[in-house]
Amino acid sequence: MEIQLWRQILDPYALAVDELVLKFNHIIREHRAKHMYPPIEQVNGRVKTISSILEKAQKKKIELDEIENEIDDIAGIRIICQFVEDIDRVVQIIHDREDMEVIEEKNYIADRKESGYSSYHMIISYVVQTIDGPKKINAEIQIRTLAMNFWATIEHSLQYKYKENMPPLLREKLWSASEAIVLLDSEMSSVRSEIMDAQNSFQRKANITADILNNIQNLYNLANKREVVKIQDEFLKIYRLDDLSKLENFNKQLDVISEGYRAQSLK
Ligand code: GTP
Ligand code: MG
Repeated sequence: MEIQLWRQILDPYALAVDELVLKFNHIIREHRAKHMYPPIEQVNGRVKTISSILEKAQKKKIELDEIENEIDDIAGIRIICQFVEDIDRVVQIIHDREDMEVIEEKNYIADRKESGYSSYHMIISYVVQTIDGPKKINAEIQIRTLAMNFWATIEHSLQYKYKENMPPLLREKLWSASEAIVLLDSEMSSVRSEIMDAQNSFQRKANITADILNNIQNLYNLANKREVVKIQDEFLKIYRLDDLSKLENFNKQLDVISEGYRAQSLK
């Protein structure tokens, strides 16, 4: 097939990957804005390269004109979570969405592969709008924890190095490393609520601080400069106390002061 034709085939997949990455990143943003812990740590996407599409077609004896129907992972999304529990939440979010239709699921977390590979896979059907009208395509979503991703990344490069001939001892080591990953994820789960609390309060502190600095900036344009410098010093003192409720109180006071100045300037 000519390169030009490949482009025509792959372009809608590139659009789907861009849109899906944007949408999953937005889920993170929505959670943060509501001071909620986001179940997604990071999302990546890629379109399969022409050479690896050809390689897969050859291996699975797929005709060139059947590639789009037979290869589900031309568009690939990888969602990385901090905790195993987060994976269930992401799976539910995907099921609940109206723009993604789940057509296949494989749970390699409940059922680890022989290699030791562990992840939750979903094939979804997704519609992109092109200048020729809507086009329905399939995309593969892999959902895994940071620890599972660490294992899969290392194992993938070893697979690449050894192809089909991985030494048995190395295979065994990778299996026992995958056992360690399961253990690590379950140990981490047992401290999840504490980590989430810490992360939430960190996020709240960051949000309040941004609010306060914004208020001070606005006051600088409206109020007496010396007043504002005093307010800023006061802020730094409270910030160093590392007490969220004091910071919240200070922010409320600032809101009242700002409101007063705004009302005055509108007179
Ligand atoms: P293919 O689509 O031909 O890969 O097989 P399949 O349809 O049975 O899909 P499967 O869900 O097993 O795997 C799809 C993808 O998951 C692969 O392309 C890899 O990215 C990843 N994967 C599956 N098994 C392994 C594994 O043992 N090690 C690593 N590192 N990745 C794996
Ligand atoms: Mg597949």
